[in-house]
Amino acid sequence: MKIAIIGSGGREHALVHQLSKSKKLTKIYSIPGNAGTEEISINIDLNLDNFQDLYNFIKKEQIELVIVGPEKPLVDGLVDFLDSKNIKVFGPRKKIAKLEGSKIFTKKICKKFNIPTARFKICESREDSFTFLSSFNFPLVVKADVLAAGKGVYICQDIGEAKTAVNEIFDGKFGKADQLLIEEFLEGDEMSFFIISDGNSYKTFNTAQDHKRVGEGDTGKNTGGMGAYSPSSLINNDLESKILNKIIEPTLKAIGEMNEKYVGFLYAGLMIKNDEPFLIEYNVRMGDPECQTILPLVDSDLLEIIDACCNSKLDTHEIKWKNKKSMCIVLCSKGYPEKYNMNVEIKNLRKFKSDKDNFIFHAGTKSSDEKVLAIGGRVINFVNTSESFSYSRKEIIKQIRKLNWEDGFYRSDIGYKVINE
Ligand code: AMP
Ligand code: GLY
Repeated sequence: MKIAIIGSGGREHALVHQLSKSKKLTKIYSIPGNAGTEEISINIDLNLDNFQDLYNFIKKEQIELVIVGPEKPLVDGLVDFLDSKNIKVFGPRKKIAKLEGSKIFTKKICKKFNIPTARFKICESREDSFTFLSSFNFPLVVKADVLAAGKGVYICQDIGEAKTAVNEIFDGKFGKADQLLIEEFLEGDEMSFFIISDGNSYKTFNTAQDHKRVGEGDTGKNTGGMGAYSPSSLINNDLESKILNKIIEPTLKAIGEMNEKYVGFLYAGLMIKNDEPFLIEYNVRMGDPECQTILPLVDSDLLEIIDACCNSKLDTHEIKWKNKKSMCIVLCSKGYPEKYNMNVEIKNLRKFKSDKDNFIFHAGTKSSDEKVLAIGGRVINFVNTSESFSYSRKEIIKQIRKLNWEDGFYRSDIGYKVINE
């Protein structure tokens, strides 16, 4: 089978790596890919906003299945477009991708279907927001209703911070805003929970714990994710049943009532408090870096599973998991998530190869002649699978030290909540 993966991050490199092990695979393209995917697939540099060009390439190369990694093409309707041209594609359609594209869309579903989530108010003007703010306890959360890679979320400690957030959003910091969301701050522990769905049935797709803050001990600015481990230490059978019954299934029911089906990965960002799950947000794709830490645990043919989803036959497949722990630490460009240098060489990176328990997934890299250059904030994902998080972390840190990239930094405390040393 000839397939194409859309995207260029660590998540996509992990997908390409896992899919390239499939016995069904004949050829794999990364559009546009990075310096890592280039070693195991054919990189094609196309603009993801130009659906017609993408289609022309897919048609010319007779690609049989397209897997969409990132949220933007999903929210922009790439699945609908390719579907209308009879191309098999894995990912949700535009109407349902709003689960990630609009936090207000998701909150309305939560309200209608009684899905546990933070108490909220949709505000349509500054005045409306200010009135509501004064009747709320602090901290509270103010959110722009856009796809802003986590950047449109303000955790506010006092009325001054909250007013700044409201003003910035209505001033258009994240694009034109007609409304915003104010919600209660939830205490608890976060967990990333995944399912894979074919529109008729679904299966759980493991759990992970992301580390979004840039600094050790979860301090400093929010990032796309500095590292993760899987499975989450919070999950157990009882909690999983609650998540499925109270959150996932009502959401799939809501989608059904819109005459839509969910095909793809669905990622629920949850807060767990006293063994009860609350939905913080939905993402309509795998997480990044969660994908990098979860996929090495899959012990089944991922291409068969994804293809089965596109044929509404997921129920005839079993997903097997390795009974191991997995950790991912992200090596970032110094300065991230603020300003950092571009096109900085990473020497010796090509000498690092993935093996049975160690995986190197590139993110913001490109190759130039024989060199690998860093072109993003999050640059390389180091993953290790083993019997313990503690061992995995030590192994990863050994690898990062061996690489010794002086323009990079990483968090050495990934998994600190589950490693007591
Ligand atoms: P989101 O983009 O909605 O996932 O928000 C980004 C991050 O902000 C989440 O991963 C949480 O850490 C935090 N966050 C968002 N909403 C809340 C909330 N209601 N209570 C506590 N933390 C939140
Ligand atoms: N790890 C967070 C995300 O993928 O949105």
